[in-house]
Amino acid sequence: MEIKLKQTKYRWWDFIALPFQCDPAATIALGVQKALTGISAVVQVPVIAKLIDLAIASTQGEAAFEEVLPWFFLLVLCVGWRRISFIVGSFFSKRLQVNAGAKMGIAFTDKRSRLHYSHIENADTWNLIKRVCTKVDETVSLMIQRVYNLMVYSIRIFGVLFFVFTQVWWIGLLTLLLCIPLILVSFKGGDKNYKSSKEAAQYDRRHQYLAEVLSNREAANERTLFGYSDHVNEDWYDQFEKARKIRLKANIRLMRSVRGGSVVTTILSAFITVALIFPTADGSITVGMFIALATSMYDLINMVGSEMTKAVTQLAQFGGYFKDLTEFVALSETAGATDAPEKKPIGFRSLEFKNVNFTYPNTDTPILKNANFKMESGIQYAFVGVNGSGKTTITKLITGLYDQYEGEILINEKELRTYTQSELKAIFCGIYQDFAKYYISVAENIAIGNINQMDTEETKAQMDALLKRLGLYDDLSALPEGLKTPLGKIQDNGVDLSGGQWQKLAIARTLINPAPVLILDEPTAALDPISESKLYEQFEEISQDKTSIFISHRLGSTKLANKIFVINDGCVAEAGSHSELMALEGTYAQMYESQRSWYQ
Ligand SMILES: Nc1ncnc2c1ncn2[C@@H]1O[C@H](COP(=O)(O)OP(=O)(O)OP(=O)(O)O)[C@@H](O)[C@H]1O
Ligand SMILES: [Mg+2]
Repeated sequence: MEIKLKQTKYRWWDFIALPFQCDPAATIALGVQKALTGISAVVQVPVIAKLIDLAIASTQGEAAFEEVLPWFFLLVLCVGWRRISFIVGSFFSKRLQVNAGAKMGIAFTDKRSRLHYSHIENADTWNLIKRVCTKVDETVSLMIQRVYNLMVYSIRIFGVLFFVFTQVWWIGLLTLLLCIPLILVSFKGGDKNYKSSKEAAQYDRRHQYLAEVLSNREAANERTLFGYSDHVNEDWYDQFEKARKIRLKANIRLMRSVRGGSVVTTILSAFITVALIFPTADGSITVGMFIALATSMYDLINMVGSEMTKAVTQLAQFGGYFKDLTEFVALSETAGATDAPEKKPIGFRSLEFKNVNFTYPNTDTPILKNANFKMESGIQYAFVGVNGSGKTTITKLITGLYDQYEGEILINEKELRTYTQSELKAIFCGIYQDFAKYYISVAENIAIGNINQMDTEETKAQMDALLKRLGLYDDLSALPEGLKTPLGKIQDNGVDLSGGQWQKLAIARTLINPAPVLILDEPTAALDPISESKLYEQFEEISQDKTSIFISHRLGSTKLANKIFVINDGCVAEAGSHSELMALEGTYAQMYESQRSWYQ
């Protein structure tokens, strides 16, 4: 059974509903186990009373020894169950944890893959996603245990009070009145602790990130080169200390309240014990009942004073988790985000930006301002411009990653928003500055570019041809398992490629895609100049009748494009072929002049 994430708010009853969805059998079994534990603690009271009374009677010859035995066995059963119950409980809570990890993992992965792209680029939502998805298995398993613990406490409180009431009603009432403030204090303490842990969490996130910087593989070179470890270490320690102090304060508060509570509970228990002496003396309760009640009351008051605070603290934390979870489920999705490209080829005639304005969600600075340009089929285009001028942003709009723009974007004279994601994927394909490295085989790394025809002979032949063109074929087919060799270090026999080889692989993945429009956002930064210029020269041949959109800072490469758009401050400042733009003697000509020496 698959888990469907709730579209409405997660509430307190989901402390039970969610674990139940993940593993109904374990949730019920844990409930039975805990209920029996609570009941056995209550049953123990009359059993101990009876046992003591009969034992005394038998020493005085008023009862036979055989009469004592059944009560003795009952006591052994109660105590024995509590020992076994711990093992049973650990087994089912572990089982629940494993199943919750699997089921919630699937549901979360599904949700994450549908998320609107803006949430992935936004630091706040990205943090939220990480918070919700890590350790969900442990959280689900613990939340039901804490709820059940409260149930055990309730059974014990009501059960023991029931006996007291039936024996001496006024002592029952007295205990109840004294327990209520203790329960209230423990709830309040729990809530305060939760608030402290939330405050500490923000420092935790930061010192965990810094610990990552200090230890991860990607930054290893820079750590050595820049020698910044000590500096980062200090910062790490600072954040760690802040979190530690908050926790320490909370712990001291907890200890104080527990210690204060234990003084109160000792006085209370003593008081109740003294109170119980009177009915014992006048014979309204037996000696056995006196001992059983006095001991269980002490346990009970102690439990209310300390364990309950802990359970409430954690439940409040899980309440916070539910708030996050509700927010995560509500994050907007892109309809059809996970769909494969439309199988039926969609022809490309034109792409036009008409007065397009765009601001990233949750920011104020407009990035595109009145952008206007038109592209037509079969032509090679290039975008050039300084860092941050908006080139990559334009490609994100074209491919439908962001759709909250003003103005019009027309594809084949039809508004972009009227296309489905799978239609857009059939028209555009691209490779970005931060292309991905997949730790799968060489062949798969390329073939996933044409997901609808991954395993066809045609794709294989195309792959070989592309690898040869890109000058990768000889190197890669010489790998231990040829093109089937796994890449990356996550497999024992995996091999790593050089930065440039990875990039060429990513280019091959893009080129094998049948979409008629190719977007290449600086895909050649890791290539050596010879490979790069060779690639651009071959490009017309490789891309055949495709329309291509190139983005590069190296104008010697973009020079070959039929039409160049110079992007400046979010709009098209100049447009034309290389010679037209040179004749214009504007921004482009200046940029080209400053790079001229690179090409001569
Ligand atoms: N997800 C985002 N949220 C908010 N602002 C963003 C986001 N992505 C980019 N920006 C901002 O948009 C502006 C344009 O960025 P863009 O990546 O389009 O520039 P670019 O022209 O591709 O630059 P480069 O040549 O460095 O690749 C920059 O100021 C950048 O800070
Ligand atoms: Mg860019």
